[in-house]
Amino acid sequence: MPVPLHTTGKASFDDIYDRPDPREYYARMSELDYRIPELAKPFFEQQIREYRASARVATPTVLDIGCSYGVNAALLRFDTGIGELAKHYAAADGDADRDQLVARDRSRLAESDHHSDVRFIGMDAARPALDYAHATGLLHDIVHADLESADPTDEQREVLAGADIVLSTGCIGYVTEKTLLRIATAHPRRRPWMAHFVLRMFDFDPIAEELAALGYRTEQAPGLYAQRRFASADEQQRVLNTLSDKGIDTQGREADGWLYAHLYLSRPGPKGRP
Ligand SMILES: C[S@@+](CC[C@H](N)C(=O)[O-])C[C@H]1O[C@@H](n2cnc3c(N)ncnc32)[C@H](O)[C@@H]1O
Repeated sequence: MPVPLHTTGKASFDDIYDRPDPREYYARMSELDYRIPELAKPFFEQQIREYRASARVATPTVLDIGCSYGVNAALLRFDTGIGELAKHYAAADGDADRDQLVARDRSRLAESDHHSDVRFIGMDAARPALDYAHATGLLHDIVHADLESADPTDEQREVLAGADIVLSTGCIGYVTEKTLLRIATAHPRRRPWMAHFVLRMFDFDPIAEELAALGYRTEQAPGLYAQRRFASADEQQRVLNTLSDKGIDTQGREADGWLYAHLYLSRPGPKGRP
């Protein structure tokens, strides 16, 4: 069956965020060699270390936007890689139901949590994925919202306002400056740090400009990070066209079959300091 394409030209996997557990998500991502959360992990750990030192906060709160089944929290807290995580879910008995998978993740977390001194919050528009991550304990709190289309409710704003560091993988593009501004201003004064891995087909400038108006400075970290293989020739062609229109050289990169992302780091200036 052909892979459906999002309006951006990128493959759409919307159907696999709506399953009660993450087995299909990891199976599909593993077929495509999806690896950006694993490449992101050391950078996210560095942000947490630096935030802790700078704000002198013992237990910082990390908000993962578009967290799906708590993917970044799982990699950080289980201290594992995406391939190993895919195997962990693939090894679950085919007859296992959601409750059994949740129980397995809960006990794994109880045995060993490499970031027990971090609070993890996840936000996503897909309720089943979010509920799974919350039930396992991988996420301490969740916000089920699409902030592209509406302001957060008072209750959601209160949770978002607790974020010290906002991060994302594979999400910018689905979400724009609309979502990020609503998150950045959830607290009336305190502005969270941000670290987003963004595919080259998406422009971070509009987000950086809006954040700058709030006093943020944004830098693009050095390097390019392989996100995953293209899901189809059709997807590759659409993305190559988009990149070529932007004047981006794809030789040895997207032209060879992989999507690539940049890391953008945004921190508030002195007024928004924690
Ligand atoms: C490609 S997945 C990435 C999941 C995870 N971050 C990872 O790297 O494995 C994109 C996620 O963004 C979520 N999403 C899409 N549009 C959204 C929106 N407007 N607000 C919040 N989440 C959204 C989807 O439900 C999905 O879980």
